[in-house]
Amino acid sequence: MKEISKKIKTILAIETSCDDTSIALVECSGSLKNSGADLKFEILENIVSSQIAIHRPFGGVVPNLAKREHIKNLPKVFRQIFKSNVKGQMSKVDYIAITIGPGLEPALWTGINFAEELSKKIKLPLIGINHMEGHLYSNWLPIRISDKRQVTSNKHIEFHAIALIVSGGHTILLNMKSINKWEKLGETLDDAAGEAFDKVAKMLKLPYPGGPEISKLALKGNPKAINFPRPMLNTPNPAKAKARGAGYEFSFSGLKTSVLYYLRDNPKIEKADVAASFQEAAIDVLNKKTARAAKQYEAKSILLCGGVSANKLLRERLQNTAKELKINFYVPDFKYSVDNAAMIAAAAYINLLQKNKEHLKIEAQGNLSI
Ligand code: KG4
Ligand code: ZN
Repeated sequence: MKEISKKIKTILAIETSCDDTSIALVECSGSLKNSGADLKFEILENIVSSQIAIHRPFGGVVPNLAKREHIKNLPKVFRQIFKSNVKGQMSKVDYIAITIGPGLEPALWTGINFAEELSKKIKLPLIGINHMEGHLYSNWLPIRISDKRQVTSNKHIEFHAIALIVSGGHTILLNMKSINKWEKLGETLDDAAGEAFDKVAKMLKLPYPGGPEISKLALKGNPKAINFPRPMLNTPNPAKAKARGAGYEFSFSGLKTSVLYYLRDNPKIEKADVAASFQEAAIDVLNKKTARAAKQYEAKSILLCGGVSANKLLRERLQNTAKELKINFYVPDFKYSVDNAAMIAAAAYINLLQKNKEHLKIEAQGNLSI
């Protein structure tokens, strides 16, 4: 087995788990020593080709249309990255990383087939990456601190850390003991946070994807107008629960249904008030559970990531929570909150360091279920 020797590894990453076709080229360096304090990710390219316009008329992602679009977009995005000098540029690449799940099967397989073909053609090792691990490690990607400056090395994240991963398909709370060791405290028992945003947006006749639309409309509404339920906010009480970590599950399906009934019974209600009150309830639960976990595990940092982390109110709330607890708060740049291939490259590099081997088969990586 060959050791990773060269200081900088260039990873070409491909992400097609849902409705974004993304390819990134990332220079990765550093180690896992000292909680990954010297990790550095230089994003040479990160192109995301969105399919929103294709799926919008259907009110959600249509898997086979997503597959068709990925097939069309992958070679286009690849050419955009390598321009005319494919051979020259590809010679700098050390690994190809590909998202292998979770996600929409037809969409995932399009990317996997493309990556496999490429890896055979140019004889480069292929690394299969868990999409949720990609989101988790998006917190190690560069952050922009002004229009001109971006920080490429990480901010030396201190552990224990509580990580809240909120996307369209998942809501997961992790207790991270180090950069590559964690225990799952809880996840959603039904709808994911992003899914609830998307479904409530549909009820309000807002276009897909609903999350950004709800947060925009909520700006014009009163978050206290309707007291929607905060599902499982306090149940079960972790102090009394036998299982360590119990009490950190989420449930958003009941909240979604109460919005449905409220709209049925109050057809003349201001939509903005519904959006603001729903958002308030959903974010209240996410924030308070994360705060409770941070206290219980005496965390030094809170990490937020996944598509819903693009929500400004959620960012603000968790930032305030961290301030109150006198701990650090991390959230990726907006462009790395939503699906992108740069985060897949970061996860691939961290997986490589962890396994200390150059070639990984396409199989589930890490501790998160696929
Ligand atoms: O991580 P992501 O891009 O894709 C998945 O892995 O699912 O997350 C997409 C989800 C969608 O449900 C979308 O509505 C939600 O993230 N989202 C938001 C916001 N921006 C995106 N939810 C709330 N507020 C936002 N600003
Ligand atoms: Zn995602």
